Amino acid sequence: MSVHTYRAIIVDDDIDCGNSLNTLLIRKGIQTTYFDHPKKALDTILEGHPPDLAFIDLRMPTFDGIEVLKRLKHHLPDLTCILMSGVGTVDSAVEAIKYGAHDFLLKPVRLQTLTLLLEKVCEKIDLHREVRRLREEKANLTTSHLIGNAPSMAELKRRIVTVSQSDATVLVLGESGTGKELIVDALHNGSTRKKKNLIKINCGAIPHELMEAELFGFEKGAFTGAVQAKPGLFELADGGTIFLDEVGELPQSAQVKTLRVLQDQIITRIGSTKSKKVNVRLISATNKDLYQAIQKGEFREDLFYRLNVIPIHVPPLRERTDDIPLLFRLFLDRYCTQYHKAEKIIGSKALAYLIQYPWPGNVRELEHLCEQLALTCRSQWIREEDLPNQFRDAKQSATTLTVPLGTPLKHITQQVIQRTLSLTGHNVTEAARILNIHPKTIRRQLKELPQETNPPISL
Ligand SMILES: Nc1ncnc2c1ncn2[C@@H]1O[C@H](COP(=O)(O)OP(=O)(O)OP(=O)(O)O)[C@@H](O)[C@H]1O
Ligand SMILES: [Mg+2]
Repeated sequence: MSVHTYRAIIVDDDIDCGNSLNTLLIRKGIQTTYFDHPKKALDTILEGHPPDLAFIDLRMPTFDGIEVLKRLKHHLPDLTCILMSGVGTVDSAVEAIKYGAHDFLLKPVRLQTLTLLLEKVCEKIDLHREVRRLREEKANLTTSHLIGNAPSMAELKRRIVTVSQSDATVLVLGESGTGKELIVDALHNGSTRKKKNLIKINCGAIPHELMEAELFGFEKGAFTGAVQAKPGLFELADGGTIFLDEVGELPQSAQVKTLRVLQDQIITRIGSTKSKKVNVRLISATNKDLYQAIQKGEFREDLFYRLNVIPIHVPPLRERTDDIPLLFRLFLDRYCTQYHKAEKIIGSKALAYLIQYPWPGNVRELEHLCEQLALTCRSQWIREEDLPNQFRDAKQSATTLTVPLGTPLKHITQQVIQRTLSLTGHNVTEAARILNIHPKTIRRQLKELPQETNPPISL
């Protein structure tokens, strides 16, 4: 057994047996928690720090051991479970193993049996821990260039790590400047294809008439000017990844051919009769609404479904304001160093302006602001006056409400309530205090709003 500590739980309604196993485990250096009722065990474990090991009695009132095993394994698949019973039947042992138990012990459990069991089990737990640690290390490495710890970013990073390990076609969706290209880099670098090419094509930047030749290549003489054969980007990406940025701009003829690559992994150069097999993972991105493009007949619906096997939605910066201070500080430091300027600090008022600003250009806009401030702000402190006008205008529009004459009073009341709630972080008590009304009035008004405009509230 290694020097690690192991945590075990014992679930047994027979207090004498439970206590004696508890004593044996403590003697073996295991941290234990003993539950004489399965419900107590389930409630506690599923909320707190999960154990490594569970010793579960087979026959208990209310839940039998198999039921406890099933529920525990459902929530904690890595948990090593050992079923125990005073009467050993082959059937119950087989059933326990079928539902994921590691072993089946006869009660009373003897020290020698336990010692042998723990040697094997602790080795298995060490292995699980090592796999988990390596996975986390890899995950951190894959997404280390993506700054942000907001819950939506953390979730996004987890998704990137999982998706990068598959070969599935990915569509990255998000507003301009949200970091879609960084995500594509992470997906490629986290995959087994990382030693091969990641070929990036901006579909909006290549003239339509040249797109097919670029993507699929051509043979000598295929068209005027084709003086020699040239492989397409799909061929160059063989074994690796191809990234079609602004995929909504892909011309119709190239859409048909791309569909074919996705279906059969086959390409045909222009002017050739021979097809070639390629092994390419396709990632595409867009900041446009592809559904609209489909409606207008500009984008093939069948291609959309092929591209959108795994969608990755990148949240706009205004929806992860928690990350603004961190991103700002890192970019500002980076540009101050790059331009040999002394380190700068942002004042809390100026930071508040940044947090309420809607950031239509997302992280790219924030990065440009930092570059600008590093170069132009003379003092060490960045104050609100140092920020460009749009930041102060946005603050004004966040705290004022303009309503056209003739707006029904009810709508005005609801808008005032909603805007005040936004300013208070959806705190009803605080909003009621500011508006000098009862919190119940706010709740009543919110109930009358259509569901999708109803914000989450807290007290
Ligand atoms: N989470 C992030 N951490 C660090 N830098 C970021 C992050 N998100 C975006 N950036 C930076 O912001 C800039 C824009 O990112 P990127 O080019 O990936 O955006 P995009 O979503 O592809 O935008 P577009 O739709 O306009 O092509 C880049 O300089 C990138 O390095
Ligand atoms: Mg981009």
